[in-house]
Amino acid sequence: MTETSEPQAPTQPGRMRQMQVYVTGAGGARPRVPTTPRLLEERAASAMSRRAAAYIIGGAGSEATMRANRDAFEKRQFVPRVLRDVSRRDLSVELIGRRHRAPFLLAPVGVLEMVHSKADLAVARAAKSEGIGYVFSNQASVAMEECAAAMGDVPRWFQLYWSSDDDVVRSLVSRAERCGAEAIVVTLDTTLLGWRPRDLDLGYLPFLRGLGLAQYLSDPVFRARMPQNAPDTGIRPKGLGIVETAFRLSRKGRQYGLSLGQMRAAVAHFTATYSRPDLNWTDIARLREMTRLPILLKGLRHPDDAALAVQHGVDGLVLSNHGGRQVDGEAATLDMLPAVVAKAGHVPVLLDSGVRSGADIAKALALGARAVLVGRPYVYGLALAGEDGVAEVIRNLIAEFDLTLALCGLTHATDLNADCLAGQA
Ligand code: FNR
Repeated sequence: MTETSEPQAPTQPGRMRQMQVYVTGAGGARPRVPTTPRLLEERAASAMSRRAAAYIIGGAGSEATMRANRDAFEKRQFVPRVLRDVSRRDLSVELIGRRHRAPFLLAPVGVLEMVHSKADLAVARAAKSEGIGYVFSNQASVAMEECAAAMGDVPRWFQLYWSSDDDVVRSLVSRAERCGAEAIVVTLDTTLLGWRPRDLDLGYLPFLRGLGLAQYLSDPVFRARMPQNAPDTGIRPKGLGIVETAFRLSRKGRQYGLSLGQMRAAVAHFTATYSRPDLNWTDIARLREMTRLPILLKGLRHPDDAALAVQHGVDGLVLSNHGGRQVDGEAATLDMLPAVVAKAGHVPVLLDSGVRSGADIAKALALGARAVLVGRPYVYGLALAGEDGVAEVIRNLIAEFDLTLALCGLTHATDLNADCLAGQA
């Protein structure tokens, strides 16, 4: 793949963003999207329904993994250098054949219609306006073609959940190729859904209401495979909420030219086929035959799996624990990063799970990540102010990353290394 022209990035994005906020603030205006990560989450939570807040913010079990992810960032400390002329900075990194404006992309996050009606499309537009890459979710609320059409030349990747129907996988991958995706990111940590008490206690799974199924409902192969009627699972919904569910399913069905009965069959077919617990390394070799695109494995955590991934010739790794949503009580991704990078050799490692600020991005790069994926923070921006909210979150992350780099005495994102952190060199 060749490098393409990138959006012009200011060389002082941190200062520019600060001045934009402070000068506007001189008239009394406050940012709609808080820059403090804790406030961002709190305000977004109050802008969401109870079910959306549980689904987006929550994690697996006691949420110990989520806490570990945050603790790992908080316990790392910079040791800045001074007197090094940091007047001009370059935040860009080279990643999968392309130069990215800043060292992060927006993570694939499903069911965004729970927080905003424009959902993935608003995110795609913000990604375009800020020149930041976006990984389309397999559980998106807007079909990938519509998002891709809004993104111009800005990088987009496609995240795949490997369905038990290989023809659906092939169809999704070839659609991703046609809409300009530059990589396929296979998520490996969700072959089964984690145990999520916040959602369980509300008895709420969005997919059963037809949400987050846009990639499937718009897919000709999936549609051709839907049964005439939903198979009887022997479990029946209880309570009057069934009326609301039927209403929502009908409304969603109309968007895709499907009746209520067909929607029920689609949901049942999705539930029966969306993932494969028997997924194994031979499938990765098969994926290589299905596509010419680079392949990244997401949700890999163990250094030995990183070594296996290298043997299988993958193009990149995303060290992720799904933001602590899958296994309760696992290690923070940041704590595993140096060992995974050591086993990955020349293969680039991205990290996600717990990244909340520009300083966090700098810490991940200092410990060997080529770039990071940012998940919940941009969803909070979406909940608060739609496309503009996502753009603000992106600008804030870039600004803080830029200032952290400069104030640590560095001028290039690629200068970050273990020497910048206490006790790591
Ligand atoms: C996710 N994530 C996710 N990952 C994926 O590969 N496909 C998906 O559809 C989703 N959906 C999804 C929904 C919600 C509500 C969340 C919070 C997360 C995981 C996501 O890509 C990423 O790994 C985490 O969000 C990173 O952690 P932080 O940044 O949210 O802490």
